[in-house]
Amino acid sequence: MSLLSNLQIDGDRLWDSLMEMAKIGPGVAGGNNRQTLTDEDGEGRKLFQSWAEAAGMTMGVDTMGNMFFTREGADPEALPVYVGSHLDTQPTGGKYDGVLGVLGALELVRTLNDLNIRTKHPIVVVNWTNEEGTRFAPAMLASGVFAGVHEEAWAKDKVDAKGKRFGDELKRIGWEGDEPVGARKMKAFFELHIEQGPILEDEGIDIGVVTHGQGLYWLEVTLTGKESHTGSTPMPKRRNAGLGLARVTELVHEVAMDYQPSAVGAIGHIDVYPNSRNIIPGRAVFTIDIRSPSKKTLDEMRERIEDGIDLIAEALDIEASVDEVGHFDPVTFDPGCVKAVRDAAERLGYSHTNIVSGAGHDACWINRIAPTAMVMCPCVDGLSHNEAEEITKEWATAGANVLMHAVVETAGVVE
Ligand code: GLV
Ligand code: MN
Ligand code: MN
Repeated sequence: MSLLSNLQIDGDRLWDSLMEMAKIGPGVAGGNNRQTLTDEDGEGRKLFQSWAEAAGMTMGVDTMGNMFFTREGADPEALPVYVGSHLDTQPTGGKYDGVLGVLGALELVRTLNDLNIRTKHPIVVVNWTNEEGTRFAPAMLASGVFAGVHEEAWAKDKVDAKGKRFGDELKRIGWEGDEPVGARKMKAFFELHIEQGPILEDEGIDIGVVTHGQGLYWLEVTLTGKESHTGSTPMPKRRNAGLGLARVTELVHEVAMDYQPSAVGAIGHIDVYPNSRNIIPGRAVFTIDIRSPSKKTLDEMRERIEDGIDLIAEALDIEASVDEVGHFDPVTFDPGCVKAVRDAAERLGYSHTNIVSGAGHDACWINRIAPTAMVMCPCVDGLSHNEAEEITKEWATAGANVLMHAVVETAGVVE
Protein backbone atom coordinates (compact mmCIF):
# COMPACT_ATOMS: atom_id res chain seq x y z
CA MET A 1 0.00 0.00 0.00
CA SER A 2 3.04 2.33 -0.04
CA LEU A 3 2.13 3.37 -3.57
CA LEU A 4 -1.26 4.43 -2.31
CA SER A 5 -0.22 6.57 0.61
CA ASN A 6 0.82 9.57 -1.52
CA LEU A 7 -1.82 9.19 -4.20
CA GLN A 8 -3.77 12.46 -4.70
CA ILE A 9 -6.24 13.60 -7.33
CA ASP A 10 -5.77 16.90 -9.21
CA GLY A 11 -8.12 19.27 -7.34
CA ASP A 12 -7.81 22.06 -9.93
CA ARG A 13 -8.72 19.73 -12.78
CA LEU A 14 -11.73 18.40 -10.85
CA TRP A 15 -12.86 21.96 -10.06
CA ASP A 16 -12.47 23.07 -13.70
CA SER A 17 -14.61 20.14 -14.84
CA LEU A 18 -17.29 20.99 -12.25
CA MET A 19 -17.37 24.58 -13.49
CA GLU A 20 -17.44 23.48 -17.13
CA MET A 21 -20.37 21.11 -16.54
CA ALA A 22 -22.21 23.87 -14.64
CA LYS A 23 -22.27 25.96 -17.84
CA ILE A 24 -24.80 23.48 -19.24
CA GLY A 25 -28.35 24.18 -18.11
CA PRO A 26 -27.62 27.27 -16.04
CA GLY A 27 -30.24 28.26 -13.48
CA VAL A 28 -31.49 31.76 -12.83
CA ALA A 29 -29.44 32.41 -9.68
CA GLY A 30 -26.01 30.92 -10.26
CA GLY A 31 -26.94 27.25 -9.96
CA ASN A 32 -28.32 24.76 -12.47
CA ASN A 33 -31.52 23.63 -14.10
CA ARG A 34 -30.44 20.45 -15.87
CA GLN A 35 -33.45 18.30 -15.18
CA THR A 36 -33.48 14.71 -16.30
CA LEU A 37 -34.15 13.91 -19.97
CA THR A 38 -34.19 17.55 -21.06
CA ASP A 39 -32.01 18.80 -23.92
CA GLU A 40 -29.64 20.12 -21.26
CA ASP A 41 -29.35 16.66 -19.69
CA GLY A 42 -28.48 15.34 -23.18
CA GLU A 43 -25.81 18.01 -23.59
CA GLY A 44 -24.33 17.30 -20.14
CA ARG A 45 -24.17 13.59 -20.98
CA LYS A 46 -22.31 14.34 -24.23
CA LEU A 47 -19.72 16.44 -22.43
CA PHE A 48 -19.24 13.71 -19.82
CA GLN A 49 -18.91 11.12 -22.61
CA SER A 50 -16.24 13.17 -24.36
CA TRP A 51 -14.24 13.49 -21.14
CA ALA A 52 -14.59 9.81 -20.21
CA GLU A 53 -13.57 8.66 -23.69
CA ALA A 54 -10.61 11.05 -23.67
CA ALA A 55 -9.61 9.27 -20.44
CA GLY A 56 -9.50 6.00 -22.43
CA MET A 57 -12.74 4.48 -21.14
CA THR A 58 -15.34 2.67 -23.22
CA MET A 59 -19.04 3.44 -22.94
CA GLY A 60 -22.04 1.20 -22.36
CA VAL A 61 -25.56 2.60 -22.04
CA ASP A 62 -28.53 0.60 -20.82
CA THR A 63 -32.16 0.90 -21.84
CA MET A 64 -32.86 3.25 -18.90
CA GLY A 65 -30.11 5.60 -20.13
CA ASN A 66 -27.67 4.74 -17.33
CA MET A 67 -24.15 5.47 -18.63
CA PHE A 68 -21.20 3.21 -17.78
CA PHE A 69 -17.56 3.92 -18.67
CA THR A 70 -15.08 1.10 -18.17
CA ARG A 71 -11.37 1.36 -17.39
CA GLU A 72 -9.99 -2.10 -17.97
CA GLY A 73 -8.45 -4.05 -15.09
CA ALA A 74 -5.50 -6.43 -15.25
CA ASP A 75 -7.77 -9.42 -14.63
CA PRO A 76 -10.48 -9.59 -17.29
CA GLU A 77 -12.47 -12.06 -15.16
CA ALA A 78 -12.58 -9.80 -12.09
CA LEU A 79 -15.85 -8.03 -11.26
CA PRO A 80 -15.59 -4.25 -11.73
CA VAL A 81 -15.70 -1.69 -8.95
CA TYR A 82 -18.40 0.86 -9.84
CA VAL A 83 -18.20 4.50 -8.83
CA GLY A 84 -20.39 7.48 -9.65
CA SER A 85 -23.61 9.39 -8.99
CA HIS A 86 -25.93 11.55 -11.15
CA LEU A 87 -25.67 14.54 -13.51
CA ASP A 88 -29.35 15.57 -13.43
CA THR A 89 -30.34 18.48 -11.18
CA GLN A 90 -33.33 19.97 -9.45
CA PRO A 91 -35.13 22.79 -11.35
CA THR A 92 -33.40 25.22 -8.99
CA GLY A 93 -30.45 22.98 -8.17
CA GLY A 94 -26.82 23.50 -7.29
CA LYS A 95 -23.65 22.72 -9.22
CA TYR A 96 -22.51 19.83 -6.99
CA ASP A 97 -25.44 17.62 -5.94
CA GLY A 98 -24.69 14.45 -7.90
CA VAL A 99 -22.22 16.09 -10.27
CA LEU A 100 -19.38 15.94 -7.75
CA GLY A 101 -19.84 12.17 -7.47
CA VAL A 102 -19.68 11.63 -11.24
CA LEU A 103 -16.81 14.01 -11.94
CA GLY A 104 -14.94 12.91 -8.80
CA ALA A 105 -15.09 9.37 -10.22
CA LEU A 106 -13.86 10.60 -13.60
CA GLU A 107 -11.06 12.51 -11.87
CA LEU A 108 -9.85 9.42 -10.04
CA VAL A 109 -9.52 7.59 -13.37
CA ARG A 110 -7.66 10.55 -14.89
CA THR A 111 -5.28 10.42 -11.92
CA LEU A 112 -4.68 6.67 -12.25
CA ASN A 113 -3.99 7.24 -15.96
CA ASP A 114 -1.49 10.03 -15.22
CA LEU A 115 0.40 7.80 -12.81
CA ASN A 116 0.10 4.66 -14.92
CA ILE A 117 -1.52 2.77 -12.07
CA ARG A 118 -3.24 -0.47 -13.04
CA THR A 119 -5.86 -2.15 -10.92
CA LYS A 120 -6.73 -5.83 -10.83
CA HIS A 121 -10.48 -5.17 -11.07
CA PRO A 122 -11.84 -2.91 -13.79
CA ILE A 123 -13.25 0.44 -12.65
CA VAL A 124 -16.57 1.61 -14.08
CA VAL A 125 -17.65 5.25 -13.81
CA VAL A 126 -21.41 5.63 -13.84
CA ASN A 127 -24.05 8.34 -14.35
CA TRP A 128 -27.47 7.13 -13.15
CA THR A 129 -30.54 8.52 -14.96
CA ASN A 130 -33.12 10.58 -13.02
CA GLU A 131 -31.81 10.55 -9.50
CA GLU A 132 -33.67 13.70 -8.55
CA GLY A 133 -37.20 12.49 -9.24
CA THR A 134 -38.44 16.04 -9.54
CA ARG A 135 -39.60 15.72 -13.15
CA PHE A 136 -40.51 12.02 -13.00
CA ALA A 137 -41.21 10.64 -9.49
CA PRO A 138 -39.89 8.66 -7.74
CA ALA A 139 -36.27 9.68 -7.17
CA MET A 140 -33.44 7.26 -8.02
CA LEU A 141 -35.66 5.81 -10.72
CA ALA A 142 -33.12 4.20 -13.02
CA SER A 143 -30.85 2.85 -10.29
CA GLY A 144 -34.06 1.41 -8.79
CA VAL A 145 -34.77 -0.45 -12.05
CA PHE A 146 -31.12 -1.56 -12.17
CA ALA A 147 -31.42 -2.95 -8.63
CA GLY A 148 -34.65 -4.79 -9.50
CA VAL A 149 -36.82 -2.65 -7.23
CA HIS A 150 -38.93 -1.23 -10.08
CA GLU A 151 -40.17 -2.70 -13.34
CA GLU A 152 -38.63 -1.03 -16.37
CA ALA A 153 -42.00 -0.67 -18.14
CA TRP A 154 -43.50 0.98 -15.05
CA ALA A 155 -40.58 3.44 -14.90
CA LYS A 156 -40.81 4.25 -18.59
CA ASP A 157 -44.52 5.04 -18.23
CA LYS A 158 -43.90 7.75 -15.64
CA VAL A 159 -45.10 11.13 -16.89
CA ASP A 160 -43.96 14.65 -16.10
CA ALA A 161 -46.24 17.60 -15.29
CA LYS A 162 -46.80 18.16 -19.03
CA GLY A 163 -47.81 14.56 -19.61
CA LYS A 164 -44.56 13.56 -21.35
CA ARG A 165 -43.51 9.93 -20.83
CA PHE A 166 -40.10 9.05 -19.39
CA GLY A 167 -39.58 6.43 -22.13
CA ASP A 168 -40.40 8.89 -24.93
CA GLU A 169 -38.21 11.63 -23.50
CA LEU A 170 -35.27 9.23 -23.08
CA LYS A 171 -35.54 8.32 -26.79
CA ARG A 172 -36.02 11.95 -27.79
CA ILE A 173 -32.73 13.05 -26.24
CA GLY A 174 -30.99 10.06 -27.84
CA TRP A 175 -29.86 8.26 -24.69
CA GLU A 176 -31.82 5.02 -24.71
CA GLY A 177 -29.03 2.45 -24.91
CA ASP A 178 -29.29 -1.20 -25.81
CA GLU A 179 -27.88 -2.94 -22.74
CA PRO A 180 -30.41 -4.77 -20.57
CA VAL A 181 -30.81 -2.92 -17.27
CA GLY A 182 -29.25 -4.62 -14.26
CA ALA A 183 -27.31 -7.24 -16.21
CA ARG A 184 -23.98 -5.90 -14.94
CA LYS A 185 -22.48 -7.44 -11.82
CA MET A 186 -20.44 -5.38 -9.39
CA LYS A 187 -17.69 -6.12 -6.91
CA ALA A 188 -18.67 -2.93 -5.07
CA PHE A 189 -20.19 0.53 -5.60
CA PHE A 190 -18.93 3.82 -4.14
CA GLU A 191 -20.63 7.24 -4.34
CA LEU A 192 -19.17 10.61 -3.35
CA HIS A 193 -21.76 13.29 -2.52
CA ILE A 194 -22.00 16.63 -0.78
CA GLU A 195 -23.56 16.24 2.67
CA GLN A 196 -26.61 18.43 1.94
CA GLY A 197 -26.83 19.08 5.69
CA PRO A 198 -24.83 21.17 8.20
CA ILE A 199 -23.04 18.61 10.40
CA LEU A 200 -19.60 18.38 8.75
CA GLU A 201 -19.21 22.13 8.27
CA ASP A 202 -20.47 22.97 11.78
CA GLU A 203 -18.06 20.48 13.33
CA GLY A 204 -15.16 21.38 11.02
CA ILE A 205 -14.81 17.79 9.79
CA ASP A 206 -13.43 16.99 6.32
CA ILE A 207 -15.13 13.68 5.56
CA GLY A 208 -18.42 11.97 6.39
CA VAL A 209 -18.16 8.19 6.42
CA VAL A 210 -21.73 7.28 5.52
CA THR A 211 -22.87 4.29 7.53
CA HIS A 212 -26.64 4.56 6.98
CA GLY A 213 -29.23 6.38 4.90
CA GLN A 214 -32.62 7.41 6.19
CA GLY A 215 -35.75 5.90 4.67
CA LEU A 216 -38.60 7.86 3.14
CA TYR A 217 -42.19 7.92 1.98
CA TRP A 218 -43.40 10.23 -0.75
CA LEU A 219 -47.19 10.53 -0.64
CA GLU A 220 -49.40 12.43 -3.08
CA VAL A 221 -52.58 13.74 -1.50
CA THR A 222 -55.69 14.91 -3.32
CA LEU A 223 -58.28 16.83 -1.32
CA THR A 224 -61.57 17.46 -3.07
CA GLY A 225 -64.08 19.99 -1.81
CA LYS A 226 -66.27 22.32 -3.83
CA GLU A 227 -65.41 25.43 -5.82
CA SER A 228 -67.66 28.30 -4.83
CA HIS A 229 -67.74 32.07 -4.49
CA THR A 230 -65.39 33.47 -1.82
CA GLY A 231 -67.73 36.38 -1.14
CA SER A 232 -71.16 34.86 -1.05
CA THR A 233 -70.70 31.32 0.27
CA PRO A 234 -71.53 31.30 4.01
CA MET A 235 -68.61 30.13 6.13
CA PRO A 236 -70.40 27.05 7.52
CA LYS A 237 -71.29 25.87 4.01
CA ARG A 238 -67.78 25.97 2.58
CA ARG A 239 -66.00 22.80 1.47
CA ASN A 240 -62.55 24.34 1.30
CA ALA A 241 -59.79 22.07 0.00
CA GLY A 242 -57.31 24.91 0.56
CA LEU A 243 -58.07 24.91 4.28
CA GLY A 244 -57.52 21.14 4.24
CA LEU A 245 -54.12 21.68 2.64
CA ALA A 246 -53.21 24.19 5.38
CA ARG A 247 -54.22 21.77 8.14
CA VAL A 248 -52.35 18.85 6.57
CA THR A 249 -49.25 21.06 6.20
CA GLU A 250 -49.39 21.76 9.93
CA LEU A 251 -50.07 18.09 10.70
CA VAL A 252 -47.01 16.86 8.76
CA HIS A 253 -44.82 19.37 10.55
CA GLU A 254 -46.21 18.49 13.99
CA VAL A 255 -45.84 14.75 13.45
CA ALA A 256 -42.19 15.16 12.38
CA MET A 257 -41.56 17.43 15.39
CA ASP A 258 -42.82 14.67 17.71
CA TYR A 259 -39.94 12.42 16.64
CA GLN A 260 -37.05 14.89 16.89
CA PRO A 261 -34.20 14.67 16.14
CA SER A 262 -34.65 11.61 13.99
CA ALA A 263 -37.45 12.53 11.61
CA VAL A 264 -38.28 15.19 9.04
CA GLY A 265 -41.39 16.02 7.08
CA ALA A 266 -42.66 18.66 4.67
CA ILE A 267 -45.04 19.37 1.85
CA GLY A 268 -43.05 20.31 -1.26
CA HIS A 269 -45.24 20.52 -4.36
CA ILE A 270 -48.68 22.15 -4.21
CA ASP A 271 -51.38 22.63 -6.85
CA VAL A 272 -54.59 24.35 -5.86
CA TYR A 273 -57.54 24.44 -8.24
CA PRO A 274 -58.75 26.59 -9.81
CA ASN A 275 -56.22 28.95 -8.20
CA SER A 276 -58.35 32.05 -8.53
CA ARG A 277 -58.50 34.99 -6.12
CA ASN A 278 -62.26 34.79 -5.56
CA ILE A 279 -62.96 31.07 -5.76
CA ILE A 280 -62.75 28.81 -2.72
CA PRO A 281 -60.32 26.03 -3.75
CA GLY A 282 -62.27 22.96 -4.81
CA ARG A 283 -59.23 20.75 -5.09
CA ALA A 284 -55.71 20.63 -3.69
CA VAL A 285 -53.08 18.18 -4.88
CA PHE A 286 -49.81 18.12 -2.98
CA THR A 287 -46.84 15.95 -2.07
CA ILE A 288 -45.70 14.87 1.38
CA ASP A 289 -42.06 13.86 1.97
CA ILE A 290 -41.35 12.18 5.34
CA ARG A 291 -38.03 10.63 6.30
CA SER A 292 -36.36 8.90 9.22
CA PRO A 293 -33.39 6.58 9.84
CA SER A 294 -35.79 4.35 11.84
CA LYS A 295 -38.29 2.21 9.93
CA LYS A 296 -40.54 2.07 13.00
CA THR A 297 -40.64 5.87 13.22
CA LEU A 298 -41.22 6.20 9.49
CA ASP A 299 -44.15 3.79 9.52
CA GLU A 300 -45.67 5.39 12.62
CA MET A 301 -45.40 8.83 11.03
CA ARG A 302 -47.12 7.64 7.90
CA GLU A 303 -49.95 6.05 9.88
CA ARG A 304 -50.47 9.16 12.00
CA ILE A 305 -50.48 11.39 8.94
CA GLU A 306 -52.95 9.22 7.03
CA ASP A 307 -55.25 9.00 10.07
CA GLY A 308 -54.95 12.76 10.58
CA ILE A 309 -55.82 13.46 6.95
CA ASP A 310 -59.02 11.41 7.33
CA LEU A 311 -60.02 13.42 10.41
CA ILE A 312 -59.25 16.73 8.70
CA ALA A 313 -61.29 15.73 5.65
CA GLU A 314 -64.22 14.66 7.77
CA ALA A 315 -64.21 17.90 9.76
CA LEU A 316 -64.16 19.99 6.55
CA ASP A 317 -66.64 17.87 4.61
CA ILE A 318 -64.12 17.18 1.86
CA GLU A 319 -62.79 13.97 0.27
CA ALA A 320 -59.21 12.81 0.67
CA SER A 321 -57.13 10.26 -1.20
CA VAL A 322 -53.49 9.38 -0.56
CA ASP A 323 -51.19 7.63 -3.08
CA GLU A 324 -47.68 6.41 -2.38
CA VAL A 325 -45.35 7.69 -5.12
CA GLY A 326 -42.02 6.83 -3.57
CA HIS A 327 -40.67 4.69 -0.74
CA PHE A 328 -37.52 3.14 0.52
CA ASP A 329 -36.62 1.71 3.88
CA PRO A 330 -33.64 3.01 5.87
CA VAL A 331 -30.36 1.68 4.52
CA THR A 332 -27.34 0.14 6.25
CA PHE A 333 -24.28 0.34 4.01
CA ASP A 334 -21.81 -2.54 3.64
CA PRO A 335 -19.38 -2.71 6.60
CA GLY A 336 -16.44 -3.67 4.36
CA CYS A 337 -16.98 -0.75 1.96
CA VAL A 338 -17.63 1.65 4.86
CA LYS A 339 -14.33 0.53 6.37
CA ALA A 340 -12.56 1.16 3.04
CA VAL A 341 -13.87 4.75 3.15
CA ARG A 342 -12.87 5.25 6.79
CA ASP A 343 -9.40 3.72 6.20
CA ALA A 344 -8.94 5.99 3.19
CA ALA A 345 -9.77 9.12 5.24
CA GLU A 346 -7.43 7.91 7.97
CA ARG A 347 -4.57 7.15 5.55
CA LEU A 348 -4.89 10.60 3.98
CA GLY A 349 -4.96 12.35 7.36
CA TYR A 350 -8.46 13.82 7.00
CA SER A 351 -10.71 14.31 10.01
CA HIS A 352 -13.80 12.11 9.67
CA THR A 353 -16.97 11.05 11.40
CA ASN A 354 -19.71 8.51 10.84
CA ILE A 355 -22.79 10.10 9.31
CA VAL A 356 -26.33 9.14 8.25
CA SER A 357 -27.41 10.43 4.86
CA GLY A 358 -30.50 12.62 5.07
CA ALA A 359 -31.06 12.53 1.31
CA GLY A 360 -31.81 9.61 -0.95
CA HIS A 361 -29.02 8.43 -3.26
CA ASP A 362 -28.56 5.88 -6.02
CA ALA A 363 -26.23 4.12 -3.56
CA CYS A 364 -29.31 3.34 -1.43
CA TRP A 365 -30.70 1.09 -4.18
CA ILE A 366 -27.38 -0.31 -5.40
CA ASN A 367 -26.64 -1.36 -1.80
CA ARG A 368 -29.31 -4.04 -2.28
CA ILE A 369 -27.39 -5.80 -5.06
CA ALA A 370 -23.71 -5.03 -4.32
CA PRO A 371 -21.53 -4.03 -1.36
CA THR A 372 -21.87 -0.24 -1.28
CA ALA A 373 -20.71 2.81 0.66
CA MET A 374 -20.70 6.59 0.35
CA VAL A 375 -18.24 9.40 1.05
CA MET A 376 -19.53 12.84 2.02
CA CYS A 377 -17.88 16.24 2.04
CA PRO A 378 -19.26 19.40 3.67
CA CYS A 379 -21.33 22.03 1.89
CA VAL A 380 -21.73 25.67 2.94
CA ASP A 381 -24.50 26.15 5.54
CA GLY A 382 -25.67 22.63 4.74
CA LEU A 383 -27.62 24.19 1.87
CA SER A 384 -28.66 22.01 -1.08
CA HIS A 385 -31.55 21.81 -3.57
CA ASN A 386 -30.94 25.54 -3.89
CA GLU A 387 -29.02 27.39 -6.59
CA ALA A 388 -26.82 28.89 -3.87
CA GLU A 389 -25.46 25.42 -2.95
CA GLU A 390 -21.68 25.88 -2.48
CA ILE A 391 -18.57 23.90 -1.58
CA THR A 392 -14.86 24.72 -1.55
CA LYS A 393 -12.27 23.27 -3.87
CA GLU A 394 -10.50 21.83 -0.80
CA TRP A 395 -13.63 19.97 0.34
CA ALA A 396 -14.19 18.57 -3.16
CA THR A 397 -10.55 17.52 -3.37
CA ALA A 398 -10.62 15.77 0.00
CA GLY A 399 -13.82 13.93 -0.91
CA ALA A 400 -12.46 12.80 -4.27
CA ASN A 401 -9.17 11.71 -2.68
CA VAL A 402 -11.02 9.52 -0.19
CA LEU A 403 -13.21 8.17 -2.99
CA MET A 404 -10.12 7.30 -5.05
CA HIS A 405 -8.38 5.54 -2.18
CA ALA A 406 -11.47 3.50 -1.28
CA VAL A 407 -11.99 2.50 -4.93
CA VAL A 408 -8.33 1.69 -5.61
CA GLU A 409 -7.99 -0.29 -2.43
CA THR A 410 -11.09 -2.32 -3.38
CA ALA A 411 -9.99 -2.74 -7.00
CA GLY A 412 -6.46 -3.81 -5.95
CA VAL A 413 -3.30 -2.25 -7.37
CA VAL A 414 -1.19 -4.35 -9.73
CA GLU A 415 2.42 -3.48 -8.88
C1 GLV B 1 -32.97 13.22 -3.67
O1 GLV B 1 -32.28 14.19 -4.01
C2 GLV B 1 -33.73 13.28 -2.44
O2 GLV B 1 -34.85 13.80 -2.47
O3 GLV B 1 -33.20 12.88 -1.39
MN1 MN C 1 -27.89 13.88 -5.31
MN1 MN D 1 -30.68 16.07 -5.07
